[in-house]
Amino acid sequence: MTVLDVIQRSTDYLSKKGVDSPRLQIELLLAHQLKLRRLQLYLNFDRVLTAGDLEALRAFVTRRGERVPLQHLVGSVSFCGMELGVGPEVLIPRPETEMLAERAVKWLGERKDAGATGLRALDYGTGSGCLALWIASKCDSVEVHALDISAAALERAKDNARRNSLDSRVTFHEGDGLSSWDPGLTLDLLISNPPYIPTEEISSLEPEVRDFDPRQALDGGPDGLTFYRRLASEASEFVRPGGLLLLELGDGQGDSVRALLSTEKWVVEAILPDYSARPRVLVAHRH
Ligand SMILES: C[S@@+](CC[C@H](N)C(=O)[O-])C[C@H]1O[C@@H](n2cnc3c(N)ncnc32)[C@H](O)[C@@H]1O
Repeated sequence: MTVLDVIQRSTDYLSKKGVDSPRLQIELLLAHQLKLRRLQLYLNFDRVLTAGDLEALRAFVTRRGERVPLQHLVGSVSFCGMELGVGPEVLIPRPETEMLAERAVKWLGERKDAGATGLRALDYGTGSGCLALWIASKCDSVEVHALDISAAALERAKDNARRNSLDSRVTFHEGDGLSSWDPGLTLDLLISNPPYIPTEEISSLEPEVRDFDPRQALDGGPDGLTFYRRLASEASEFVRPGGLLLLELGDGQGDSVRALLSTEKWVVEAILPDYSARPRVLVAHRH
């Protein structure tokens, strides 16, 4: 069987299984297996696959048809160009979260340029470590901390730190929110992509998300706002006056989260849209 045969047959198969963008999926799996760039496949359509490659691809395609996420099959994802390992213990970082990461780096850079020293940042609910690691890689004078309630997620985040030679740059903490945060570690920046899916909506999500992202990474409580409510009060104790709170928002949550943070402790500065023009990032300052 040639590369093109595999693409055609697998595209049909994945399409029948309800997989989104089936041709792209098989191309990415093929490229991974053959250690080629995806576009190089187009120059290799007539290449005949070895029995070993075919067997591996059959297993990949079957599992993808069972709606196992592509990123779990290939074992990694690119976040802001950084390669991160992923598995069922962490949320697969999403492209829209890169906005949050870039905004944080921009603000920290401006603070540094304005002469600020000893800046400290916390990634609340770090999962794969994507936000903390990107900040650590870009802002070498900032002390970076990462927190998660899940020990398994933290193991993965630490592994990603080693993989990107950032293990000496991030301190990892296991904890339920900021309930046991050291009051001595006041923060200039708190960044979070918290769980924000309303509990009842989880069962209607795509199988790749519903069955393979950790429930703890998705479940935002009955109205999806539990963590924003928690952060509005918890974070105000630890973020320094003038410090920044950067939060990713779920669909349609902008007004509610703005209202939750419009207290005497916080000033909501902006709600920024994502690439699909949906309100996605809330920027607030501590009074
Ligand atoms: C939506 S995921 C975000 C992961 C990663 N920051 C990202 O953007 O891809 C939310 C994370 O919050 C963590 N989490 C859930 N409840 C928590 C809690 N009470 N305290 C700390 N972390 C929590 C989950 O384990 C999960 O890793």
